[in-house]
Amino acid sequence: MSYLDELRERIERLRKERNAVILAHNYQLPEVQDIADFVGDSLELAKKAMEVDADVIVLAGVYFMAETAAILNPDKTVLIPNIKAGCPLAGFLNLETIKAYRELYPGAPLVMYINSYAPAKYHADYIVTSSSALKLIARLDDEVILFGPDKNLASYVAEKTGKKIVAVPSGGHCPVHEFLVNEYYVLKALEEHPGAKLILHPEVPPEARRHAHYVGSTSQMIRAVGELEGDVFLLGTEEGLVYRARKMYPGKKIYPVNPRAICINMKKNTLHHVAEALEKMKPVVKVDPRMAGRIREILETSFKMV
Ligand code: 13P
Ligand code: SF4
Repeated sequence: MSYLDELRERIERLRKERNAVILAHNYQLPEVQDIADFVGDSLELAKKAMEVDADVIVLAGVYFMAETAAILNPDKTVLIPNIKAGCPLAGFLNLETIKAYRELYPGAPLVMYINSYAPAKYHADYIVTSSSALKLIARLDDEVILFGPDKNLASYVAEKTGKKIVAVPSGGHCPVHEFLVNEYYVLKALEEHPGAKLILHPEVPPEARRHAHYVGSTSQMIRAVGELEGDVFLLGTEEGLVYRARKMYPGKKIYPVNPRAICINMKKNTLHHVAEALEKMKPVVKVDPRMAGRIREILETSFKMV
């Protein structure tokens, strides 16, 4: 039996023994997506984590995703295959920054991107994902809104809603989208695939975004491949999304804007790590219960609004 087949067999056995479900993000390695019970974007993963009937959730994604699953499931054991899978974007938001912007804009609500860690989330008024940011902010009566930590998603929401969206902090970004899915790579890809439909994630810089036919979350991007007219599609985000899109639409020609746009953190979860996590029942992701309780309330309120 091959190395990977042995790992798959081990995961299969342990998944039953532990009464576990494996939830994977759209950027995970193909072989991890293939063994998952569910694959989706951040909002879908959080909602799925609330619904599943299992004792153990293995969240194959980055740490803030597993942390969100743990917050929403105080009675379940939440495991992350590789504890080192962080998200540099989430690291942009800290308490001093939040406090400074609150003082500068008293009374403005703080809408926080789910790509943030629990100590920051605790201070949010609302929590959104790339698929819900626009809808939730459009529903708020406020005309001035603090939004963090992604400056590019902040500028996208400002453009679409006409509101004043203050990026908190001013320079927060995802390095994968900011540097590897920028206007240069977009124009290069359009030159290589003339006439292709360009589908982008809102974490890309605004200069790249203005060439897009569609902007949305990772799962919305996949759905757009099915809904937009045309046979050739360029996906401007982390390259892992192309695997899932091609699997769902085998008849369409789907290419990454940049095949080198790889989130190394997402790729830290391998089948080996999934098997080890299930075997050893660690690393467990835990959040202080008082903090988790408050964040759960914010998440539930925010989810109901979209
Ligand atoms: P989605 O919620 O769109 O899947 O985005 C998560 C992410 O980390 C994008 O880089
Ligand atoms: Fe974070 Fe960017 Fe990786 Fe998404 S692609 S997990 S935002 S570093």
